[in-house]
Amino acid sequence: MDHFLYRDGALFAEDVPVAEIAAKVGTPCYIYSAATLLRHYKLFDDALDGMDHLVCYAMKAASNQAILKLLGDAGAGMDVVSGGEYRRAKAAGVSADRIVFSGVGKTAEEIHTALTGGIRQFNVESEPEMHVISRVAQSLDVVAPITIRVNPDVDAKTHAKIATGKSENKFGIPISRAKEVYALAASLPNLKIVGIDVHIGSQLTDLEPFRLAYQKVAELTNDLRADGHEITRLDLGGGLGIPYTRSNEAPPLPTEYGAMVKETLGHLGCEIEIEPGRLIAGNAGIMLTKVIYVKEGEDRKFLILDGAMNDLIRPAMYEAHHDIVPVVEPAAGVEQMPYDIVGPVCESGDTFAKGRDLPEMAADDLVAFRSAGAYGAVMASEYNTRPLIPEVLVQGDQFAVVRPRPTFDEIVNRDTIPEWL
Ligand code: LLP
Repeated sequence: MDHFLYRDGALFAEDVPVAEIAAKVGTPCYIYSAATLLRHYKLFDDALDGMDHLVCYAMKAASNQAILKLLGDAGAGMDVVSGGEYRRAKAAGVSADRIVFSGVGKTAEEIHTALTGGIRQFNVESEPEMHVISRVAQSLDVVAPITIRVNPDVDAKTHAKIATGKSENKFGIPISRAKEVYALAASLPNLKIVGIDVHIGSQLTDLEPFRLAYQKVAELTNDLRADGHEITRLDLGGGLGIPYTRSNEAPPLPTEYGAMVKETLGHLGCEIEIEPGRLIAGNAGIMLTKVIYVKEGEDRKFLILDGAMNDLIRPAMYEAHHDIVPVVEPAAGVEQMPYDIVGPVCESGDTFAKGRDLPEMAADDLVAFRSAGAYGAVMASEYNTRPLIPEVLVQGDQFAVVRPRPTFDEIVNRDTIPEWL
């Protein structure tokens, strides 16, 4: 459930008509609902009730500091994957002992940043990386807490670009070599093994791949303990999928996920960490756009919006579906017609949807993309020198611009022309 609903024929974000935001902030823009973000965080927190746990929001999904502060204040930790994300999390007031550092290629500089600022743990992805963490920790005379990310070789049954748990993927170390790599970790200076990490992919709509992976982690926990390692923490990654269409999709709920975690891992007495991103932010955000033109093609109508692939890349990149709805609620029984919904960027790939039924649309009508809160604003670019679009946070009847639209001067003046030209 989210808080983007029609009221008296108009789309609202919580208690604010989105048309009012469009009038004040302009389009395109992203709008997030604080109540939805908090609700989704709490669903996970409650689902793991009874187990020692920490929900570390995978901030790559939506990393605006207003979102981080909201979730951090509610008790969330953060999963970061770069020195930049680490700095953002700290700037938003998240305490270092609730920040875990994931990512397949942490640089010595990023490791240094996290070790000096404080970190809950590094999720180590390879032996060379482990050596660097050990070396940097030694140079700072501190101990780096680590888990090792294992690749359990399970099929997450999701889009190939977001599956990470098969042996052909670049992530983690093969679970078959885990004992050997843990032995190496135990032998290196200034490292403290705290647990095991696993993440098998994103937008999973079935619990079985998780269950298979977690069963392997349970076995590994016993094996590593038998080898004398102290395994007190299990980081289970993120990946639980969300419904992108209102109609027929029903991915497992966080409660079902939590029950499965207890069933597979509860007996081990470990602290559980999870790293959900999409489920917290996805349906907590919309992208609001305006129709520039309705264009009659030879055999179809094109709805040309002011939002484009640079603002929301998911349809172009993953063939992703987003529900696209008019801000003025269509009257019951009104005639609908198919539109190809596109942006103004000079590529055929700048197509959000084909043959999507909408009531008759006209220039200046507002149109919202649902489920755009995760991997929306964060993946945007300035392709075609289109400014990054603003982000707005709504809470109840108030809203604030939490990232303004840059001016063209700001964009153009960033380039410098060398004096020898
Ligand atoms: N933990 C790790 C180590 C990850 O790599 C990811 C996502 C997550 C947690 C969070 O997964 P989530 O709960 O959000 O599924 N840009 C793509 C999604 C990429 C996901 C990358 N890793 C998209 O728009 O679908």
